[in-house]
Amino acid sequence: MRKMISKRVLSLHNGQDKQEVWIAYKGIVYDVTQSRLWRDGKHYEHWAGQDLTHELPDAPHTESVFERFKIVGELTD
Ligand code: HEM
Repeated sequence: MRKMISKRVLSLHNGQDKQEVWIAYKGIVYDVTQSRLWRDGKHYEHWAGQDLTHELPDAPHTESVFERFKIVGELTD
């Protein structure tokens, strides 16, 4: 079973408060700590530690960018 991750716990993984950098997309929390493109939790004008599902249409790429990242768990309220 997948681990449940609250929005509050997700928000702590914003690249500023903790070492790990997490982002949520369509209910799944991904660990993007290894990505140079998410260094310090910043990715262009976006910040980690949040649900970015509704921001993906602004990106010049598809959701396939998530494929190489480890799933941390499932996002809950
Ligand atoms: C203005 C908005 C954005 C810009 C300009 C942008 C730009 C980029 C670029 C240039 C890459 C490099 C590789 C590629 O094109 O496949 C990338 C990768 C990536 N983007 Fe975005 N992006 C944006 C928004 C987002 C959003 C909203 C998310 C999350 C929902 C996201 C998640 C990712 C991820 C996970 C990667 C893979 C990083 C890696 O492989 O190291 N991006 N982005």
